[in-house]
Amino acid sequence: VSVCSGVGGMGGLVSDRDLSAPTLSQLPPHTFTHPLCCHFLTQIFINNEWQDSVSGKVFPVYNPATGEQICEVQEAEKADVDKAVQAARLAFSLGSVWRRMDASERGRLLSKLADLVERDSVYLATIESLNSGKPFLPTLFVDLQGTIKTLRYFAGYADKIHGTSIPMDGEYLTFTRYEPIGVCGQIIPWNFPLMMTAWKLGPALACGNTVILKPAEQTPLTCLYIAALIKEAGFPPGVINILPGFGPTAGAAIASHMGIDKVAFTGSTEVGKLIQEAAGKSNLKRVTLELGGKNPNIIFADADLDLAVEQAHQGVFFNAGQCCTAGSRIYVEEPIYDEFVRRSVERAKRRRVGSPFDPTTEQGPQVSEDNPSNRVLEFIQSGISEGAKLECGGKALGLKGFFIEPTVFSNVRDDMRIAREEIFGPVQQIMKFKTLEEVIERANNTDYGLVAAVFTNDINKAMTISTAMQAGTVWINCFNALSTQCPFGGYKMSGNGRELGESGLKEYSEVKTITMKMVAKNS
Ligand code: NAI
Ligand code: MG
Repeated sequence: VSVCSGVGGMGGLVSDRDLSAPTLSQLPPHTFTHPLCCHFLTQIFINNEWQDSVSGKVFPVYNPATGEQICEVQEAEKADVDKAVQAARLAFSLGSVWRRMDASERGRLLSKLADLVERDSVYLATIESLNSGKPFLPTLFVDLQGTIKTLRYFAGYADKIHGTSIPMDGEYLTFTRYEPIGVCGQIIPWNFPLMMTAWKLGPALACGNTVILKPAEQTPLTCLYIAALIKEAGFPPGVINILPGFGPTAGAAIASHMGIDKVAFTGSTEVGKLIQEAAGKSNLKRVTLELGGKNPNIIFADADLDLAVEQAHQGVFFNAGQCCTAGSRIYVEEPIYDEFVRRSVERAKRRRVGSPFDPTTEQGPQVSEDNPSNRVLEFIQSGISEGAKLECGGKALGLKGFFIEPTVFSNVRDDMRIAREEIFGPVQQIMKFKTLEEVIERANNTDYGLVAAVFTNDINKAMTISTAMQAGTVWINCFNALSTQCPFGGYKMSGNGRELGESGLKEYSEVKTITMKMVAKNS
């Protein structure tokens, strides 16, 4: 396989040597060599084998910074899901290599996978940036590190998942066991393709499940490379199957499949409802959902203003606003409101938007044109027509690619669409509040409940807000302080269940109670 060096517009950020980094011990067949960069794996991964789709269909994958096609990928549909279910069921059957494997060995395989991701992290970050538009440096330092840490965290859990013995009334000996659920379908979005892959695979494999994972149609490339690393790490065939494809076909086939025991989904609330419905109409498979957010960030007058402005800025603009955790409703206490708006606008105007491979870039393009780029521009129009004050930004940027200017709205009312719906773009909404009681009521007045944040130097206000927020995570004087060790997930329509931490692990197991009647007699 020829490895071409140099990516257009890389600005010297990644050296030629780095680009030839994939040291995959055995390159799979049908590797697509892109004229500008490295090679991409473009087939469906079932039973540790690379396969074309049953239908023969392929779909295009784009570079959002230019709008140009990168390559075509095999498109999985229901027939391919059926094949993957067969493989994953066999891999899960009693007596299989995977089921008989020592838990410590399962952990070692996960650990090996983490090492391989680390070995190829520059290469993976390059493909991730090319395919998703994320700036390269944050991708390398945030996404890749998060991916590796998550795999290692769950690797360590594999042989430490144990039940308890219970002093049950009567003459019984009772204990619990945590057992794998079975075949897990996992459907992930495009905003953090690698991290979402690790968040899903880590706990599922640590618990001993088998997996069918569908990356988002916009961003399948890094996930397919992970498939190659899975094979290299030595996971038995069928344990992990990666099926690139679209939601209404491959995704829906996973959600409604009778041979799948659990589905884990991250994405829109709209599709989350469809998944739960499909699970209910089929086999009542277990469902965990990590959905949208319209997250409040509350800034009191006594806060460190420099810190609050910067964290509020990063909290909404990070990843071009394409985060379920985006702090998109900023409530600022009246005495500092004008100054906060002034500084936030000044900061947004300084935000550097550009090529993902320019080392000074803070914000790359949105992931795609129709969804969400044009959707974001529609939201901005609705903000203007509903009477919010457009302080800066508001337009698409550049001739090529899906870039949007960092946009700030002030004078936002709680009933406006931009204050109620998830925008998933670089758009900040700033509102004014007067009292603690008022801001608690307004911050909680939403269908969502993923995260919330508060900036204050008064511990009483910080704790009152933290306990009052209907949200799965609350940050005090910080934002997006996520960690693989801490449970993450939503209240209300932000989801169902938790990921990461011990809570995330438990979502991938069934607890079994075993009770034995004590019948020993003298012989
Ligand atoms: P989406 O929810 O449609 O897509 C996410 C994943 O679900 C993808 O893998 C997609 O193929 C799959 N999917 C789509 N329809 C499906 C179906 N009927 N059955 C099973 N799987 C299905 O999200 P989309 O359309 O990419 O973005 C729309 C909005 O959703 C965004 O603007 C944002 O507001 C929100 N979103 C939230 C995310 C989060 O991290 N919570 C991630 C992505 C999107
Ligand atoms: Mg959709």
